[in-house]
Amino acid sequence: MTMDLHERARQILRQNDRGGYTLPTHGLYPYQWNWDSAFAAWGFATFDLPRAWDEFDTLLASQWEGGMVPHIIFHDPDPSYFPGPDVWSTGQSPATSGISQPPVAATMVRRVWEMNREHGHNRLAAIYPKLVAWHRWWHEVRCVHGPAAITHPWESGRDNCPDWDIGMAGVDGSNVGPYTRRDTGHVDPSMRPQKEQYDRYIAMVQFGVSVGWDQKRIVDEGPFLMADPGITFILLRAHEDLIALGQALGEDTQEIAHWAETLRAALPEIWNPDLGAYDAKNLRTGEFAGILGSGALLAYVANAGNPELDAHLMRVWDAVNYGIPSADPHHPSFDARRYWRGPSWPFLNALIAIGFRDMGRHDLDNRLRRETAAAIAKNGFAEYFDPLDATACGGMDFTWTAAIWLTWAGLDAEENRGAA
Ligand code: SER
Repeated sequence: MTMDLHERARQILRQNDRGGYTLPTHGLYPYQWNWDSAFAAWGFATFDLPRAWDEFDTLLASQWEGGMVPHIIFHDPDPSYFPGPDVWSTGQSPATSGISQPPVAATMVRRVWEMNREHGHNRLAAIYPKLVAWHRWWHEVRCVHGPAAITHPWESGRDNCPDWDIGMAGVDGSNVGPYTRRDTGHVDPSMRPQKEQYDRYIAMVQFGVSVGWDQKRIVDEGPFLMADPGITFILLRAHEDLIALGQALGEDTQEIAHWAETLRAALPEIWNPDLGAYDAKNLRTGEFAGILGSGALLAYVANAGNPELDAHLMRVWDAVNYGIPSADPHHPSFDARRYWRGPSWPFLNALIAIGFRDMGRHDLDNRLRRETAAAIAKNGFAEYFDPLDATACGGMDFTWTAAIWLTWAGLDAEENRGAA
């Protein structure tokens, strides 16, 4: 059984491989997604290191001139996805979306490089300047208010989490015109964002098109701008990983160290004293979201936890059974199966667990791994799971869930298999 899961995970990565890039899953997501790709590389690295490096190359090959690495790369047009390249209309070649996604790549590059430094040296040297340019873009374009800001909920990767509700309320989605969603034709609509949210998502894309994807104008004038604790912590961690990679290459990393220090100094701006936790903030109004989400709990991956946050972590985690929920189960907006409004996401559990291990909290790492593995063993390599009963949600045969099985969730199973 255990053996089957490892083989199945490798098979999923192979099946979703389109030659240099990996689909998150067949059907629902028929292109290359930014952070999915970084996790895919980590998974590939467990059995095919050159293929892991290829994934980073393909992702970074679509970097924009200003340094942004887009969130979707539309390699081969596929009408089964909406909104496709014609809607984004960014003028890039290959076509891409016009926003970015959590910059987890440097952290994953470091993990892959550490698996075999000799093999990875030249591959790392080739992409290092691109990673630096992307991080510079985050610092100069998205961190102008201190913490990392997002201009569209899709940029956070945690699309419909309750964090964004207050910012979404200010977006007018009433004039987007007719369109046909494709996601709800692939998976159960009750597990996906709602129509009011989709109208607003499309309105934000249309604004980007209207200003020719001028990123400065989008930040200054766009319909939505919120500080994202999730990206702030991922970027902070990634800055530190990039410094380690730069030092290994003999590069001067002072500029990156400055970005990291500046970002860490901005953390008090996303601490909501009323909530007693990190929180998303509407940068147009200064208002906090007022709800604990998984973005705040990513603090652990950036060594930014504290006892107050620990209490919240245990409160939300103890309320469920299969990993850390993406939204607070005690909050009225909690929805156990709807995308980012409650479900447990294996790859996010894995990221938080990296933080637990760094803190020496192996008890928390073990618990999270055990619960995540139990959900996968029970119901397969789903995109995400109901945290109460492990119902498989969203797309199946999912790349990052397979990758996380191979790199973290399935490790105990692997040890047991060796011993058997
Ligand atoms: N996650 C979004 C989607 O579902 C876009 O990145 O299509």
